[in-house]
Amino acid sequence: MKAIDRLAPNLNSLSGETTLVYQDKAREVAAKGVKIINFGIGQPDVPTPAVAREEAKLALDQGFTGYTPALGIDELREAIANDLRERLKTDVKKDEVIVTPGAKASLFLAMASFVGQGDEVLLFDPAFYSYAEVTRLLGGRPVYAKLKREPNSGFHLDMHEVEAKLSPRTKIIVLNNPSNPTAALMNRREVEALSEIARERGIVLLSDEIYDHFVYEGEMASALNESSWRDYLLYVNGFSKTFSMTGWRLGYVVADKQVISKMGTLAANTYTCANSFAQRGALAAFRAKGEVQQMVDLFKRRRDVLYTELSKIKGVNLDLPHATFYAFLDVSKVLETAGLSVKKFSIDLIEKKGVVTIPGEVFPEEVGRMFVRLSFALGEDKIREGVKRLAEFVEEKLG
Ligand SMILES: Cc1ncc(COP(=O)(O)O)c(C=O)c1O
Repeated sequence: MKAIDRLAPNLNSLSGETTLVYQDKAREVAAKGVKIINFGIGQPDVPTPAVAREEAKLALDQGFTGYTPALGIDELREAIANDLRERLKTDVKKDEVIVTPGAKASLFLAMASFVGQGDEVLLFDPAFYSYAEVTRLLGGRPVYAKLKREPNSGFHLDMHEVEAKLSPRTKIIVLNNPSNPTAALMNRREVEALSEIARERGIVLLSDEIYDHFVYEGEMASALNESSWRDYLLYVNGFSKTFSMTGWRLGYVVADKQVISKMGTLAANTYTCANSFAQRGALAAFRAKGEVQQMVDLFKRRRDVLYTELSKIKGVNLDLPHATFYAFLDVSKVLETAGLSVKKFSIDLIEKKGVVTIPGEVFPEEVGRMFVRLSFALGEDKIREGVKRLAEFVEEKLG
């Protein structure tokens, strides 16, 4: 028997279906000389702010290269708490913050701290792929509540559906606001409704707000604004998107300080701590508020171009992306007419036109099967060229 035959069953339950598969396909096509337009990118294309880079370099030169506390360096935890207090008018304190190697590690710690064998995790459909995978890895069961598409404002909660999917075994509800992939922003009423369910029924609310700076219309309603958040909330955010620091691997969880302390024990026994000099750089990144605003303004302009251009294509349709840097394009008519799965749509589009999109199937469970996700973290010229090729592709498929 080979080692692969003895894998833990929970690991075997992972689908492995991530956005990276389509980047690999694009590399294959690029190697044949095709100029790729990549709408698959899940990271800002602007540099990390100079103050962060300089501070990380200084930290390295000063020999700040050893282990840090499992919860992160005090100065950074304090700075995160300060930033949240300022931005969200909340009362978070340093002891309620743990710094992790990326927001994915934050999500992992948060879920591993609460999900056990047979527990149900309520996810919205569609949602970021990691939530279901980590749930299964931990022996839990993803249960999906479909989001409802509303004219002009995109995907929102359907509280009847949420109620119908809750059970005595529900341990966590995972909210991603603003949402990857739908690009919708939940309003205060929706966040309050979920907070109330969590508070009253002893369920944990995990709120992943990693795109909270990328808001173009409407107001960000953070789950941290609720006064009793310590009783039920695990709040996740990070540096990857806001400060264009994806490769630095820094995220954080905010929760009741006893919960954070337990997560610290888990961290100490798995990865020890987040990178030392990256944490120093992140501390300085908070001084780059102007650059963050410039990036958000730039993304809003690109969002407008992408939306205007996509809206001209007959046979597809799109809700205006209110937040994030994604557009979630409804291609159901093309799929039905051409008899294609969305996965085949994306693969064909890469192979025939050199345009990368992410099939909504990657974002479980059912709703996404009629959509592709396009990132607008690329220049306006490329956006125009990519949409032109996409329009040709759609026209060919519709005949
Ligand atoms: C909704 C969501 N949460 C978490 C993450 C992970 O962020 P990080 O790169 O900090 O691990 C991503 C990255 O794509 C994301 O889209």
